[in-house]
Amino acid sequence: MAENQQSSLDSLLGKLVIERGLATSDEVQDAYALQKQRLDRSDLENLAGQSLADLLVETGVVTRAQIERIRPEIEERQRRQIPGYQLIERLGAGAMATVYKAKQLSLDRMVAIKVLPRKYTQRPEFVERFYEEGKSAAKLNHPNIVGAIEVGEAAETHYFVMEYVEGKTVFDDITHRGRYSEPEALDIIVQITKALDHAHQKGLIHRDVKPKNIMITQDGVAKLADMGLARAISDREAAEQEAGKAFGTPYYISPEQIRGEIDVDFRADIYSLGCTLYHMVTGRVPFDGPNPSAVMQMHLKNQPKPVDHIHPELSSGLAEVIEVCMAKERNKRYASTAELLDDLQAIQRGEPPMQARKMFDLAQLTSLESSETKQLKIIDSELPVTANPLFWLMIGGWSVSVLLLLLIVILTLTR
Ligand SMILES: Nc1ncnc2c1ncn2[C@@H]1O[C@H](COP(=O)(O)OP(=O)(O)OP(=O)(O)O)[C@@H](O)[C@H]1O
Ligand SMILES: [Mg+2]
Repeated sequence: MAENQQSSLDSLLGKLVIERGLATSDEVQDAYALQKQRLDRSDLENLAGQSLADLLVETGVVTRAQIERIRPEIEERQRRQIPGYQLIERLGAGAMATVYKAKQLSLDRMVAIKVLPRKYTQRPEFVERFYEEGKSAAKLNHPNIVGAIEVGEAAETHYFVMEYVEGKTVFDDITHRGRYSEPEALDIIVQITKALDHAHQKGLIHRDVKPKNIMITQDGVAKLADMGLARAISDREAAEQEAGKAFGTPYYISPEQIRGEIDVDFRADIYSLGCTLYHMVTGRVPFDGPNPSAVMQMHLKNQPKPVDHIHPELSSGLAEVIEVCMAKERNKRYASTAELLDDLQAIQRGEPPMQARKMFDLAQLTSLESSETKQLKIIDSELPVTANPLFWLMIGGWSVSVLLLLLIVILTLTR
């Protein structure tokens, strides 16, 4: 039996004998220690007889009959396992999947595995998209993106293997210690904007940027998670499904995703990033309501209260950047993630966000132009007829014609 397979079988057996009360965890540890001792002394061909089961029997902890009785269950659990990985513990679960910490046996390193529920197996369009996006995500290579390792299927379950991040999410931070200071939030958002810029340049959109999908390592590196993970269902459906989960309502979804538009582009990520930054610096989401559809209506129609009106110590530059990110119409948002990055870095240096100002100037110019045209139209329709030069031209024309006619009549009569 291959060494990897043996160690995964041992770990299943070790867990099960403890669970069943057949051995204590100390006894299992002792058996592992003995196994290691013997392994160090033996050559590779002489491994037979070194399994954890054999050692537990040899040391009198369990009997051979007890091992045989739990064997069917071990086999069942083994079938459920993902080949090449040893599941260690459950890290958490979201609206659509469960994430486990696991050991990638071939490389002896920790990874995180997202396991999707079996119900998705019945949707071929989802499975296809899941693999396609998995492949695109694997092409990304950026220090601020949780790396994709593999997508696969085992025992009718689809899974996504990714880099394991030892740390916490931004959502954990907001929940446990409250809002971020402006410099702290900018530090994280700058890193995530760089990650998005990399993905956008490769034509990949995240579609689900939110505090739960931003992980912070113990060294303070921010990493965007779930990059390229396909959504089995429409954005709106997904958002509605999240209802009822704490902080799960669609707080960060863009108006175009709510409307179910099919050509959603990178600007949806910019909108969601704006909502995330809003939440980080104020400690509250931009729009809140009694149910998901109320929140979605607000994304479509309401203007959020500017962040510097909620907390006056926040800079007006930050408020402007958030406002441009969260514009309802996507052509009023940043034209690229790189432009957003320029502004974020300007605020970090204490300078004004020039790209946002350009957007404001443009918006003002457009509204000025349209109000001028409107005014002109009003003037046109309200002016008296005598103010129109055409009127005087016509009068002149008529007078000349009448005079000519009179002249002709007089000349005819006097002959
Ligand atoms: N690469 C990773 N490394 C370590 N932990 C992770 C990793 N990816 C996810 N997690 C943990 O697993 C939890 C669940 O993740 P998942 O993506 O399934 O749901 P979510 O992002 O929290 O919410 P939702 O399903 O609403 O998007 C996360 O909150 C995080 O704590
Ligand atoms: Mg996630």
